[in-house]
Formats: sequence, C-alpha cells, structure tokens
Amino acid sequence: MASITIPPRPTLERVLSIEIVRVTERAAVAAARLRGRGAEKKSDQAAVDAMRRELGQLTVDGTVVIGEGEMDEAPMLFIGERVGTKSGPKVDIAVDPLEGTTLCAKNMPGAIATLAMADHGAMLHAPDIYMDKIAIGPGYPKNVIDLDAPADENILALAKAKGVKPDAITAMILDRPRHADIIAAVRKVGAAVSLISDGDVAGVIHTAEPDKTGIDIYLGVGGAPEGVLAAAALRCIGGQMQCRLVIDTEEKRERAAKMGIKDPRKKYLIEDMVRGDCLFAATGVTDGRMLRGVRFGNGIIETETVVMRSASGTVRRIVAEHRKLDKFA
Ligand code: FBP
Repeated sequence: MASITIPPRPTLERVLSIEIVRVTERAAVAAARLRGRGAEKKSDQAAVDAMRRELGQLTVDGTVVIGEGEMDEAPMLFIGERVGTKSGPKVDIAVDPLEGTTLCAKNMPGAIATLAMADHGAMLHAPDIYMDKIAIGPGYPKNVIDLDAPADENILALAKAKGVKPDAITAMILDRPRHADIIAAVRKVGAAVSLISDGDVAGVIHTAEPDKTGIDIYLGVGGAPEGVLAAAALRCIGGQMQCRLVIDTEEKRERAAKMGIKDPRKKYLIEDMVRGDCLFAATGVTDGRMLRGVRFGNGIIETETVVMRSASGTVRRIVAEHRKLDKFA
C-alpha cells in the first residue's frame, strides 16, 4: 500500500494570522490621527502605545526581539519585553509600530504599522543599527544576486536571469547621499532607479511582485530592524535577500555581541534572519503604493492590511470597517 506523506504541522497557529491584523490596525489608526502634524515622536508613541495594548490581548507567550530599542533606552516594546497573555505558544515578535515616522509626520505616502511573528528563537536579534541589503522577488535561480558584487553587476545578472535588457530593470533605493555610488552604478548600465524618501520594509516587499509594482530589485543601507521585518515578509511570499549589519565601531560590535552576534561580517540570507514558520502583517497609515492609509469616516474607520503566512504562502488583503470606535480611543 502506498504510504501517505503527512506534511509537518505548522507550529504557528493559523488563527494568529488574523489576530495580528488587529495589532497593526490599532497602531496604524493611532498614528494616522496625527498624520501631517509634524509630530514624529508623538505619532510613533501613539502607535507604540496602541500596539502594546493590543499585543497584551494575544494568546501567545511572546518576546519582542525587534522593537523600539534596547531595554535601557525604550520603556515600551523594548527588546526582550514579554508580551501577550503568556498562555499560548512561545513566539518571537518583531515590531515597527510606525515604519516611516517622517512620512506620517509629513503625511507623505508609505507609512505603515508592521509586525512579524515566528517561533521562539527563530528570529535574528538585530540591534538598531544599519544593515546593507539586497533583495529580489521569487522565480530566479539561487544566488543570482550577491550583496558583495557591485550594483551594476547585480543589475546585469538580474536582467540576464529575467531575460530582459538592463534598461527593463528598476531598482528601488532609499534617497540618501550614502547611496550616490549605487545609484550611479545602476544608471550606468541603463537601469532605472525609483527613489524613496523612507520606508524600506515596503521597499523590499515591492520586489516580490515586479509586474504590479514595477520594482525588480531593492538595494542599499537601511535599518537592521526593518531588514528582519522585510525578511519575514519575503519568507512568506518568496524572494531572495542578502544582508549584512554595518558594524563600524567598537560600540556597535559590543551591542551586537550582547545580542548573540558572533560574526559581525556575516552575510545573512532570509533563513538566517527568520527560520521556520512566520507571519507578517502591515497596515497602511498614509496612502502608499502597497497599502491605502487609514480613512476616518462618519462613525466608521477604514483600514487596509496585508497579512502573510509562510506555512501556506497565503497573502490576504483585509479592508476592515471599524464601527466600535471606543476601541481606538
Ligand atoms: P523610521 O520609521 O524609524 O523613521 O524609519 C524609516 C526608515 O526610512 C526605514 O524604512 C529605513 O530602514 C531607515 O529609516 C533608514 O534610515 P535613515 O533615515 O537613517 O537613512
């Protein structure tokens, strides 16, 4: 008799993917109330407070591994903080309650509230320092890109793998003086550059659906916490990413070592940053290419969230109408 192969049971409860939507929704609404007020810190704090409150309701025994900072510098959602009801599965949680604080303060496109979850011990504990990143979407041979190769070589390799000329490739890059050489190298081989002023979690996610977003590759240096969150998203939807922490001082080396990072030059692949099952959710704060921002209507608040689950590869877009507005007070 032919034997039946039973796939391993995912360890993260399926229902959690819906539960985490509430968490990013609450944070997004709290931040959105302060859109365009030039109040970066205040809107970030509002998002942190709301996210923390809602995380308290989750039936998990969670530990924040990517949060608002190290314990001595962040009173809430600090790295190592225990969250949830502490009665459910043991999980690691990465949060960025307001990714794009400046975008929110200026009411510019692309601010999101975001969270990722994995089994306990399965996520990289990254200090809040810079990280060098390169990412592409699914469907390419392994290692077609290389973090250590010059940007122009990566564009040429990607164009070849895609079967197009380099001028059909678009790279998304944070608009920073430190990226001048990368931008020049990309343009030198005829590819286009799409510059963003902030928000590289969404930047990386854009590469997963180049036909819809027009973005084939993400390149450049951004925050390490954002790198881990983006890796969680790509783990769910597919793609390749290579990253390296930018550890250029003794102080950063010590901080990284305290978090268990033994090799400061390590090149991280997605599976080095997030192992096993994971979930990722993001809710739009301001309107963006990926998500619509929060709408405040007459007695209704509308949110749009994308939620992904690696065990099934499912990507859901949830447009929610909230009527019990006291929950958002
Ligand atoms: P914040 O929400 O913390 O302001 O981060 C926004 C962001 O653009 C990230 O997406 C990105 O990783 C990082 O800042 C880049 O850092 P910097 O602004 O120092 O270049």
